Amino acid sequence: MIKHTNYLSRTYKLPDGHKLAAYEGVGGYKQARRALSTMKREDVVEEVKKANLRGRGGAGFACGVKWSFMRPHPTKPAYLVINADEGEPGTFKDRTIMELNPHSVVEGCIIGCLGIGAHAAYIDVRDELHLSKARLWEAIKEARAKGYLGKRPFGVDYEVEVYVHTGGGAYICGEETALLNSLEGRRGEPRFKPPFPAQVGAFGCPSTVNNLETIAAIPTALELGCEEFSKLSALHDVRDGGTRLFGVSGHVKTPGVFECCVGLTLRELVYDLGGGVLGDAKLLGVIPGGSSCPILRPEEIVHAPDEKSPLHRWHGQSVLDVPMGVDTYRALGTMLGTCCAIVLSDKADPVLAFHNLMRFYRHESCGQCTPCREGTGWIERILDKIVAGEGSMEELNLLHDVASGIMGNTICAFGEGAAMPALGFVQKFRPELEAYVTSGGKSGTGRLTP
Ligand SMILES: Cc1cc2nc3c(=O)[nH]c(=O)nc-3n(C[C@H](O)[C@H](O)[C@H](O)COP(=O)(O)O)c2cc1C
Repeated sequence: MIKHTNYLSRTYKLPDGHKLAAYEGVGGYKQARRALSTMKREDVVEEVKKANLRGRGGAGFACGVKWSFMRPHPTKPAYLVINADEGEPGTFKDRTIMELNPHSVVEGCIIGCLGIGAHAAYIDVRDELHLSKARLWEAIKEARAKGYLGKRPFGVDYEVEVYVHTGGGAYICGEETALLNSLEGRRGEPRFKPPFPAQVGAFGCPSTVNNLETIAAIPTALELGCEEFSKLSALHDVRDGGTRLFGVSGHVKTPGVFECCVGLTLRELVYDLGGGVLGDAKLLGVIPGGSSCPILRPEEIVHAPDEKSPLHRWHGQSVLDVPMGVDTYRALGTMLGTCCAIVLSDKADPVLAFHNLMRFYRHESCGQCTPCREGTGWIERILDKIVAGEGSMEELNLLHDVASGIMGNTICAFGEGAAMPALGFVQKFRPELEAYVTSGGKSGTGRLTP
């Protein structure tokens, strides 16, 4: 059953909901004031751990645990860095927060700074999100004028400043260490890890990088009590708590962003919130959380006879009925990613969709690592040939080998983000790919969108 919530999105439909008055009208800034006035750093971290708030940027790391990695440095300041690059294809949730509830981000930054021992937060926003930047700037200005930011926020002796930095606009700048380079004015290329950002982050100082939605959810978690927040989720028992924004786009009748408790199923997202498949066509597949997540097909049935499997409860059921969680989706062989699903109807051509995605990854590879730079180009060239009707069965097999060669052989997770969907398409649409080869390219529908 769908459990709609209205926390992050509570200002979305209010007149001037992005302004301070509207935010304070729904209880805004009370948690930042309370945290700064009554909580120590350790209290904040322990409380946020109880929220089981899994990072909303893609990797799903628990926020409280990440904050606990920050250790005070004898000479260097700490920084909170907010990832608002939102470059993942199919993902458009963070911009709704920036445009319609920017003060939740500013309040989350104040609490986050206290939690990690920082006095400054940098929000790195994709440059082309003009309204997002304007709304964040305005929110910061309003909060500063009201005395909620600055040397003594809420009259408390704990300085907090929040800055907006505009990113370079490349997809790779969303990867946290490339983002740090971009913030420092360097070329947006991922860094080797270790050292991790908690040791050497922004400007060589200990830093925490969090997704914008993760940070914006913090005031709500504190308001409800972090344990209560966690319990809202159907997956609270497997430490995937709270509520989150679910996006759905592509071939659905009502694309959009919806706030619900964690544990919504893909069937509910596509058919109830998304209004069903466009033109009442059949569902071909769903890329569940941004383009880096391997596609799921509606015919897939969960096979988890082992009681220890995180999917055992859904053994024998359709993948569409598994609650959308970080670990449940990992166990399905895909990822929850940004939780913004891309829907494909059977009127679309999966080979062209695959080709389109791989063109994106070849274009966006930063080129540092040979397996990624060469591999993504190689995959694109093979698909160019297959789509043109000039591919061979050997090259089809090569797609699998080249993608497998990228996995685990790159500095950052971009490599996996390109290879995993490629392997998914090769495995799940093999007959369609073979038909392109045997028919000389005449088998396809020639349509990417119905
Ligand atoms: C190629 C690539 C692009 C990424 N893009 C984004 C992005 O646009 N926004 C984001 O929050 N995280 C993105 N990430 C994930 C970040 O590296 C990082 O895990 C995240 O910002 C951490 O925040 P969280 O723990 O709150 O989720 C990307 C990762 C990769 C490998």
